[in-house]
Amino acid sequence: MKILVGKNYDRVSEMTANIIATKVKEKPDAVLGLATGGTPKGVYKRLIAMYNDKKIDFSKVKTFNLDEYYGLSSNHPQSYAYYMKTNFFDYINIKEENAHIPDGLAQDIDEECHRYEQAIKDCGGIDLQLLGIGHNGHIGFNEPDDALHTSTHLVNLHEKTISANSRFFGKDEEVPRQAITMGIGSIFGADEIVLIASGEDKAEIIAKMINGQLSSKLPASMLQIHKSLTIIIDEPIQKHLYAEGVLKEQLKVV
Ligand code: F6R
Repeated sequence: MKILVGKNYDRVSEMTANIIATKVKEKPDAVLGLATGGTPKGVYKRLIAMYNDKKIDFSKVKTFNLDEYYGLSSNHPQSYAYYMKTNFFDYINIKEENAHIPDGLAQDIDEECHRYEQAIKDCGGIDLQLLGIGHNGHIGFNEPDDALHTSTHLVNLHEKTISANSRFFGKDEEVPRQAITMGIGSIFGADEIVLIASGEDKAEIIAKMINGQLSSKLPASMLQIHKSLTIIIDEPIQKHLYAEGVLKEQLKVV
């Protein structure tokens, strides 16, 4: 496990975008695992800027998103497919058929989960997986639980997640109750994982994730034993980790 520290959110985004760009330069047909949420938006902005400066070419890149709400179509403004289009895909030269996201309207869920796993395998597996982390330690929609799922599956969203999401939806009944998510095994299959976190509010969970035991009650803790995990944090998180004794010495801020 490697920890890198950026001065602030912009630096965390820039460092992460550089790692992704380097991977794509080394391997133009790289398979990237992608995340949604607030944290990766800066990474996508930077990758778009690199694309506009002709520093990166996505024409052969394949992507697999971690998750999608069940019951939302890809053009629903709250779907993750829509997020990816409007925050990233519409601005780069990725081929539509190479950008994979679970189908939120799939009729046969088991078949869809199986198809998604198989599609990852057929592409040769994920080269680099980008992850954010939830305040409760979730990765993708793998929420704290007594046990964790290995592969892509349907998950019932926590009451807290449902009520937090309700502000984005007109009516309560429109708020998704379920999602399709890659499992811990699907994520673990990636050759390289980069988990990013920024802001004091993520400090506590990062401290638990790297210092604690492996626990299904903190899904991200499982990543501690991945063969190639890089965690990119900002200075406020590093300060917290140092103050709590999780980091024995302060790392260089870049
Ligand atoms: C989304 C996803 C989630 C987020 C996590 C953090 O695809 O996988 O696990 O990474 O909820 O979200 P933000 O970045 O909004 O704090």
